[in-house]
Amino acid sequence: MNVLIVGTGYVGLVTGVCFASHGHEVLCVDADARKVRQLQAGHCPIYEDGLESLLREQLQAGRLRFAAQVPPTAAHEVALIAVGTPSGSDGTADLTNVFAVAKELGRKLQPRAVLATKSTVPVGTGDKLERMLVDMGRTDLHVASTPEFLREGTALKDTLYPTRLVFGIADVHSSEVLKRLHAGVEAPAVLCSRATAEMIKYASNAFLATKISFINEIANICARVDADVSQVAIGMGMDPRIGGSFLRAGLGYGGSCFPKDTRALVNIAGDVDYDFKLLKAVVEVNQLQRTAPLRQLTDWLGDLSGKHIAILGVAFKPGTDDTRESAALELARVLRDQGARLTLYDPVVRRCSSHSGSPISVLDDPYLAVLDADAAVVVTEWSEIVDLDWPLVRQRMRQPFLYDGRNVLAPYTMQSIGFTFANVGRRAMSAALQV
Ligand code: UDX
Repeated sequence: MNVLIVGTGYVGLVTGVCFASHGHEVLCVDADARKVRQLQAGHCPIYEDGLESLLREQLQAGRLRFAAQVPPTAAHEVALIAVGTPSGSDGTADLTNVFAVAKELGRKLQPRAVLATKSTVPVGTGDKLERMLVDMGRTDLHVASTPEFLREGTALKDTLYPTRLVFGIADVHSSEVLKRLHAGVEAPAVLCSRATAEMIKYASNAFLATKISFINEIANICARVDADVSQVAIGMGMDPRIGGSFLRAGLGYGGSCFPKDTRALVNIAGDVDYDFKLLKAVVEVNQLQRTAPLRQLTDWLGDLSGKHIAILGVAFKPGTDDTRESAALELARVLRDQGARLTLYDPVVRRCSSHSGSPISVLDDPYLAVLDADAAVVVTEWSEIVDLDWPLVRQRMRQPFLYDGRNVLAPYTMQSIGFTFANVGRRAMSAALQV
């Protein structure tokens, strides 16, 4: 099929590369001409395992092309909108880009083309897009919603082998086109209305975020009653009704989706006079969780002014260079406010921006980052961090305080090395009970 994808962020680029690998002719459009040139030359602007090699393979095979503009007459059977939907200051999703792209496609697509949203858009957006196109006289186009569930770090695997496909449609033609588009993908498909598809995406992210905030609250109670949250999660997860995934306690969720989508769903509910109390609490718990080490650091070090704290891990999770809504940046902000001196280490991220927009440099040598530190905080569970030579880390630090914000270090071992150690709801037990 001839496929047009607008937006080459994580979702658009990965989707384009994967559809090309299924044999479709894919044109990816992005307004950023520099990025387009980079992609045309086979360079991937994001860090994602396996993506660059598949991108080059598809470019060479001639199935994948990039352009800075949608061609004047786009003879594509299907066009996917995968542009950003950033959070406005009030938490609502900003749809300016989605509507601008849809308008342009309304001028350029051939009759019977299916225009589908891949970006996460508020419930009702598909219907609004259709009304806009009808107002433009385009009653011959078909609007659909096919949300994306890929995770950063495992984006290729998630797209090539998804757990499910969701087709939000208003007519049989859209369903046939989307089925043909996904012919190479083996996954069960949910056929539903556009509004239902849009809600499936928000509800999925909100539910996963709820699991994380739930286990984080359990962890905070565990810390006070001498229980171990990691073992609690294992014990809970063995019940198939609960499931073991997304029960890792830590410094909360970050990234480009969960924080934005949970806030957006609270607003979607509010717009129809529904007070989504549970999700509001999930968001609040997550906000508090990200700065949980602050209290412990103050207990250990007293006034943090002038104290040197090493932050280990800057990406919002391992396997990506994405720092959007990263716990590390939020923690850095509150520690800076207290006057602490910070050094940051990450195996992939080299630079990031503070909340005020000023650049923060990130070291690529963890042993340099902890040199003469008064305390270190593990924020991202990269294997490069978990597998550090911890006795050497201890030697290099001025004081022995270590906070494991992702519960990836064995408490008993860390204490044996000489660290004064804390984590998110796991007590140091005997070596025999250590997991
Ligand atoms: C998420 C959804 O998983 C994906 O389906 C959707 O399309 C986009 O949003 P992503 O943001 O890439 O994907 O990362 P994910 O692996 O889901 O992790 C999100 C955040 O939750 C990370 O900050 C991670 O550290 C945190 N997390 C995850 C936990 O704190 N505990 C867990 O048990 C799992």
